[in-house]
Amino acid sequence: MSGRATVLVTGGAGYIGAHAVLALAGAGYRTVVLDDLSTGRRAAVPDGIPFIQGNAGDPDLLADVLERHAIGTVMHFAGSIVVPESVDKPLAYYRNNTLNSHALIEACVRAGVSRFVFSSTAAVYGVPERLPVSEDSPTLPINPYGRSKLMTEWMLRDTAAAHGLRFMALRYFNVAGADPQGRAGQCSPVATHLIKIAGEAAVGKRSEVLLFGDDYPTHDGTCVRDYVHVCDLADAHVAAVRHLENGGESGILNCGYGHGYSVREVLDAVERVAGHPLPVRIAPRRAGDPPELVASRERITDTLNWQPQHDDLDTIVRTALAWERRLADGG
Ligand code: UFG
Repeated sequence: MSGRATVLVTGGAGYIGAHAVLALAGAGYRTVVLDDLSTGRRAAVPDGIPFIQGNAGDPDLLADVLERHAIGTVMHFAGSIVVPESVDKPLAYYRNNTLNSHALIEACVRAGVSRFVFSSTAAVYGVPERLPVSEDSPTLPINPYGRSKLMTEWMLRDTAAAHGLRFMALRYFNVAGADPQGRAGQCSPVATHLIKIAGEAAVGKRSEVLLFGDDYPTHDGTCVRDYVHVCDLADAHVAAVRHLENGGESGILNCGYGHGYSVREVLDAVERVAGHPLPVRIAPRRAGDPPELVASRERITDTLNWQPQHDDLDTIVRTALAWERRLADGG
């Protein structure tokens, strides 16, 4: 590894960032975590990893951190991720996601950091016309969250064309599950994601699960999503760093398995793994939910030789439930 091999992980105290830090450490990378702890947890950063509490949009702090730690790659997770919240607080999303990314990209250009891995989202596609969704599908986000992330993709593309920066933007589909060794998992105080909510219900933390709509044009009437295990996603990030280190070109890649499960199938899996039924109530459709969202995974397979290790719904649910039990036990 070169002298500037250290990876700065913004948002490294959050759910996906913490798994990326573990994967990077497992692959032998030095990492530094920058997180303002607005949603992340200090305890999520393993002992021995340098931690800086601060905002990923603070230019002075960034200049100092990039220089002092001889950062060679930035992995940018810090940001806001709740779609309905983005509708209520669009300016907060454009600040946390778009403006802070601008400051970070600019700091990288100034400091000569040449590799950037960005956490983007399938929300950039909006309601896709064709499935599975390829990276060349039109990007027509239907909420401020998706737009705030898409604008960062554009900034990266234009910056890469003008300056010596190469990037990988990974468009996540539905990220779920937890580290099988129990070292990390999802801790959001207000859960919105299906598997997290079902897990909370399974351990008795909530009294019911609302199933938003059973009249969609899908095989069982409920929405279909491409659930990807967070550890496979973290491995894709490590592969993206290696790709850039080896001189690979910039790119945008879907990160999903290429097949989906319905909400009912997910709830069935949670019941199967938990060993008891869940209190499920059918509720009206949630605004803005596309009936089906499944990734085309050809490009990520070709580009990164990504070989998922946890492509199995019960494995995703089992690790998510184990983490939920750990949280319920106070750990
Ligand atoms: N759902 C329920 N009940 C719940 C929560 C979710 O029925 O309590 C349903 C939703 O209606 C949807 C499916 O479960 O049909 C998955 O919903 P999630 O909230 O878990 O995930 P989304 O598909 O809405 O969101 C994901 C990512 C977002 C991203 C979006 C892109 O988590 O970051 O895909 O469409 F923006």
